[in-house]
Order: sequence, then structure tokens, then C-alpha cells
Amino acid sequence: MKKNIRILILLSIVSVQARCGSLSSYDKQAKELLSKMTLEEKIGQMTQAEHGMLKGINDVEKYFLGSILSGGSSDPYNGNSLAAWTDMYDNYQKQALKTRLAIPLLYGVDALHGHNNVLGAVIFPHNIGLGCTRDVNLVEEIARITALEVRATGINWTFAPCVTVPQDIRWGRTYEGFSENTELVKILGEAQVRAYQGNDLSNPLFVLACAKHFIGDGGTVFGTSKMTSMLDQGNTQMNEETLRKLFLSPYIAAIEAGVGSIMPSYSSFNGTKCSADKHLLTEILKEELGFEGFLISDYKAIKQISPDFNTAVEISINAGMDMAMEPNSYDVYFTTLKNLVEQRKVPMSRIDDAVIRILLVKFAMGLMDKNKSVFADRSLHKQFGSAEHREAARKAVRQSIVLLKNEKQTLPISKKIVRIHIAGKSADDIGNQCGGWTIEWLGKSGDVTTGGTTILQAVKNTVSADTKITFSKDGSGAEDANIGIVVIGETPYAEGRGDVGQPVIDKEDMEAVSNMKKTGIPVVVVLISGRPMIINEVLEQCDAFIAAWLPGTEGQGAADVLFGDYKPTGKLSFSWPKSVSQIPLSQAKDKPLFEYGFGLSY
Ligand code: BGC
Repeated sequence: MKKNIRILILLSIVSVQARCGSLSSYDKQAKELLSKMTLEEKIGQMTQAEHGMLKGINDVEKYFLGSILSGGSSDPYNGNSLAAWTDMYDNYQKQALKTRLAIPLLYGVDALHGHNNVLGAVIFPHNIGLGCTRDVNLVEEIARITALEVRATGINWTFAPCVTVPQDIRWGRTYEGFSENTELVKILGEAQVRAYQGNDLSNPLFVLACAKHFIGDGGTVFGTSKMTSMLDQGNTQMNEETLRKLFLSPYIAAIEAGVGSIMPSYSSFNGTKCSADKHLLTEILKEELGFEGFLISDYKAIKQISPDFNTAVEISINAGMDMAMEPNSYDVYFTTLKNLVEQRKVPMSRIDDAVIRILLVKFAMGLMDKNKSVFADRSLHKQFGSAEHREAARKAVRQSIVLLKNEKQTLPISKKIVRIHIAGKSADDIGNQCGGWTIEWLGKSGDVTTGGTTILQAVKNTVSADTKITFSKDGSGAEDANIGIVVIGETPYAEGRGDVGQPVIDKEDMEAVSNMKKTGIPVVVVLISGRPMIINEVLEQCDAFIAAWLPGTEGQGAADVLFGDYKPTGKLSFSWPKSVSQIPLSQAKDKPLFEYGFGLSY
């Protein structure tokens, strides 16, 4: 081995140990606490229930729960507001402190693009857009702000970053990935881990991160999903060498950055559910990569291992799962695992290993420190959804935009132009701008989501007082305008609900574009989507085209680029297919319409 390579390897081992040292340095305290725990208390730590499905708050005590989550669309009982979320979190912690050992809870949410369940939170672009920025500092800043908004509600754990490397854009979770390119995912995923968790897990401005979904979630083969979808939760079929090459390095980087939790994928690897795969979970993650944190199963994922729940739990825990996300059947899981231990089907050593891992994280987070409050710091409320946070989101929007076509210098548009006609179903729709995982699990079209600026509003804010703006959804009435802007694209979806066979532009959007084109004015198309789509026909009809992805609440960032306050700098994080038959592009023989990294500027 060459000397400098040896030094590099040595250095990286030292740095992994240095960072992981922060977890193992709590080994003594964790073991001491473990020695005081009954089997029930240990299994409780390994159990995560769902807020909306908890049979009663007393179950926190009854089952010694280690964790609660709010899944998508699971608001506090007294409504969706900053205060209600904070009260809810505090109430659960109060309940946990009533248990004999008073071990506080980890409370998990999917804060994937901001604290996206909570009304009033800033919603950032989804990861696919952040990938186009190629800006590590910006991605860190966003994760830091997200952590702070999450902590404002007290919540201490986000199921992010999603370090998937989607290989087929028909997958409904494509937008949760930064890129089809493993290296880019690795760099930005690591940045998010660092920024969510901060330098020190015990800093109350940061949250525990969770790298997901281990492994190969973006590599499933079309048609292999046993769910109602086509790709989501399907089967990744490849040899281990290819699996490692495509999907492993983001996890190596996340572990090096000190990620405290990892979520195994719903999907299978060569026919075996990842949540059941000891080679993947124990041999690779824990033994080979030295991951010291804990594994949290995906939502009801253990059930998918076998129709017999006993068998499913036995297989998963023995494979290395440490905590089970059992939203409604946490009680059944609790009893099942207890019986399995008593029948010696799950060894006590496995239980102890799982609990130690969870406790190490809790100690490192300062949750066990009697001098520290586990309750929400309400002084952070004034920063929630603040103008400063919105400014960072606006910057992310303008940097994520990719200019794909710009003929006759159609863009940038002059702010003094006489009349602009705006059209398209997404021109004035915050819900569509935000996409899935916004206020509700699937997201929702319309204004019903959370504050912010639509693209139509942003254009109005930007142009001179003399400029006239007219609007029609279908593009009619554009005659005599000096330019037209049509905002088209996908409506919100999440997970398998977003799997599509053909990512094509719908009829309504096509009509809006051609109605504008018919009038002979220059036409700018803005595409709002969670993936590249088949756009050939639209491209022919427009003079300029920008991909804006799922930009979130701050539509002003789009106007920044359209009117030339900022030049477009975004570069495609996914290659762009020219036809449906070319998908998946990872297997295509001919060139795509636009290559990975493509992006024009002015
Ligand atoms: C998703 C995960 C998510 C979990 C909790 C699952 O359906 O696959 O990504 O973290 O729900 O909401």
C-alpha cells in the first residue's frame, strides 16, 4: 500500500474514533443504568409508539416507552400550532419522568425540509433541489435552522437525512434524495448530519439525526413492490459489490460525522427485507463500520418480515434492530419481545446491546443530566418561522433552480415590463410548491398549508409599480401581454403514493402552455416537480424553461432568478430523460435530454 494512502486510512480511522468516542465515553454510565433495569424497562426503551395511536398517555409509564413519534399527519389533539406541539412534547416528557428510572423520551418527527409538520414553520426546498445547489454551507445552514425550529417545540429527533440515491425517477421518494449521484449524496448527507446534531449532541439547539433508509431504498426494481405501488418498498436486486458502490458511502460518511441513529429500509435486498438482514444490520453497519448508535425500524416495517408477528420480531431483533417503530401495536410488540426473551429465542445479550446503544445516545444528548431540563425552551419560539429563517430558504430556492432553456434572452425579465400574464395550476399554490411531507404526510394543494409566498405573489412583489400582472389558471386572456409565465407540474405526494409509470406533463398543464403560446408572446415555463419529467412537447412551445423542483414556502427565490437579481447557478442533480422508454436512465444506452450537472445561466 502506498504510504500516503496508508496515512489517509489511518487518519480517517482516528477521526471516526474521535467522533464516535463521544458515544462510547458514556459507556460506564449506560452500563450502570442498565444493571438497574428490569426486562420490562429494557424492552420499553426498545419501543416507540405513535402519538396519535397511543391508547392513553399512561401507556408511556405502563410500557416504560423509550420513544414516541409523530408520523405524517399526526398533530397534537388540540390543533396544529407551535404552542400545541410544544405542550404536547412537554406532556409526554412529564409522563416519562414519572417512571421508576425517569428516563426521558426521544421524540421523533420527519423534519425533512424544515419542521414541516408544524403550521408556521419555514418550509425549505426538498433535497432534490438542494442537490442542485451543490452548496454544502447552505445545506448545513438549512439543517441548523431546521434543528432550531424543531427544538423550539422541544422535539429532539428528526428522521433525517434521507441519504437515498434514487436510480429510477418513477419512484415517489425521488425528491427526498439529493441526487442520483452517490458522491453528492454522501457530501450533502454528511453535511446535514453535522448540522442537525451540532458539534455536541448535548447542545439543546440541535437534534438527533437519523440516516435513512438503509440500504438500497432507491435501487428497487420496477414492479417488485408488494405494496400498491411499483417501486416503493420493493426489491433491490444486485450483487453486494454494486450495492456497496451505489449506496454505502453516504452511511460511512454519516457514521463518521457521528450520526446517532439509522433507519433500515422497508425494501428488500435480493429478496430479504433489510429489517431482517443480519449481514446488513449487524455485520456491515455495526461490526464493519463501527456504528455505535442505534437502529430504529421504519413504520410498521417489522410486520412486513413475516405474517407471524412473533417470528417477525424474533428475526428483526436478532438481525440487529434496536428500537421498533410500532405506532399502534407497541403493546403487542412489548409482550411479544418479552416472551421471546423468556423463551430464549432472543438472547439477553442482544437486548442489552440494543438498550446500551439507546442509552448511550440519551446520555450523549444530555437527557440523563439531572441539571439539564428536558422540557422545551420556549424562548426559541420567537425564532420559529422568522424572517431570517425565511431568508435562508429564499436563498436555497434561487440556488436550486436550474435553467434548462433560454432562447432569445427571454430571461431575465425586466422589472419594468408593461404587462405579464401568469398562468398554470401551480402559480398561486403554496401546497404544490411545498410538495409531500408538508403539514400533512402527503402534502396538499392550496393555501391550506403554511404561510409563505407563491410564485404569483413573488412576481407581484418584484415588478415595478407600473407593471400590470394578469392571471388565469388556464393561460387564457394572455393576448397583448409582453411575456407569459406558466407554472406547471406535479401535485403533492409522498412515498409509494408518488410512484408513477409515466412522469409526463398532464393535460391541464399542456393546455395552459399552449393557450399562452397561441397568442405569440414569449413564454417562460416554471416546472414544480419532485423529479425530472418528460417535457419535450412543453420545451418546444416555450422560450425559456426552469426546473424549480419543490421549492417550499419561499417563492420569492424564484422571482429573484426570473427577474435577474440573481443569475441561475443550479446544476441538475439528476439526469433528465428524453422519453418514458428511457427510464430508468441508470440503464439507458443513449444520452439523456439533459445530462447530470447541466444548467444554463445568463
Ligand atoms: C417512512 C419513513 C418515516 C416514517 C415515520 C415511514 O412511512 O418510510 O421515512 O421516517 O414513516 O414517519
